[in-house]
Amino acid sequence: MIGIFDSGIGGLTVVKKIWKQISPDQQITYFGDVAHLPYGNKSPEIIEKYIKQGIEFLTNKGAKIIIIACHTASSVYYYNKNKISAPVPVIEMIEPTTQAILSSLEPRKARIGILGTRTTTKLKIYERTIKQKCSYCSVYAHPAPLLVPLIEEGWIKKVETKKIVRKYLKPLKKKNINVLVLACTHYPLLKEIIEPKLSKSVRIIDPSLEVVLYLQKFLKNHPEIKLKKGLSKFYFSDIPSHYPDLIYKFLGKKINFKKINLES
Ligand code: DGL
Repeated sequence: MIGIFDSGIGGLTVVKKIWKQISPDQQITYFGDVAHLPYGNKSPEIIEKYIKQGIEFLTNKGAKIIIIACHTASSVYYYNKNKISAPVPVIEMIEPTTQAILSSLEPRKARIGILGTRTTTKLKIYERTIKQKCSYCSVYAHPAPLLVPLIEEGWIKKVETKKIVRKYLKPLKKKNINVLVLACTHYPLLKEIIEPKLSKSVRIIDPSLEVVLYLQKFLKNHPEIKLKKGLSKFYFSDIPSHYPDLIYKFLGKKINFKKINLES
């Protein structure tokens, strides 16, 4: 079974892509740490603790491989891999996304915009990973802290959300970006309203797809990881009253979910 970890429902964008790209019956165990949402405004130290709890929970449930389907947690994990051990392979969002960015452009012309949470942009993760491999690339990261709460509220197509998106894109557009990375697993849910606000020449990278393509390659190279098809299970550390409807809206199908408390 594949374990998926996120701070909330953003990781469902990855679940959806797994069911589309790999198999609609691919067995998944999902943990959304809603009680501590949003991660995007929290310090790396506290996020590190939550990642450890999530990995332990999913491993105990029998995950054979874990995806950290949260950019914020992935950025923290990326810098602290040696401190966060896991008995199974862990795939984060940064490496697959960096590979996708680099393979999608002619480096000398690359002007890459990163839209992410406050913590992700503050950690300058893509500035570092991209610059290491492409000295001619320019990377501009901009935080978009209001988008996660709006998405979690289900305000996907509201005029207010569109206005806020326009405001967040403005500084990146001023930099003449030709690639935009939706560097938060919640943001693909806003792709439809982001796309029309950019010139057609801007390529949008959706990491929720890139991580699944990366997973497929990884599984091919690791045939010893045996995954099963079957019923997926969803756990959340809190379940606000509007979640059942919201999850149904995002996934397009009904799922069973349970509330669990990981604090000891
Ligand atoms: N989905 C998470 C991410 O990809 C962010 C949500 C949060 O701030 O917790 O960064």
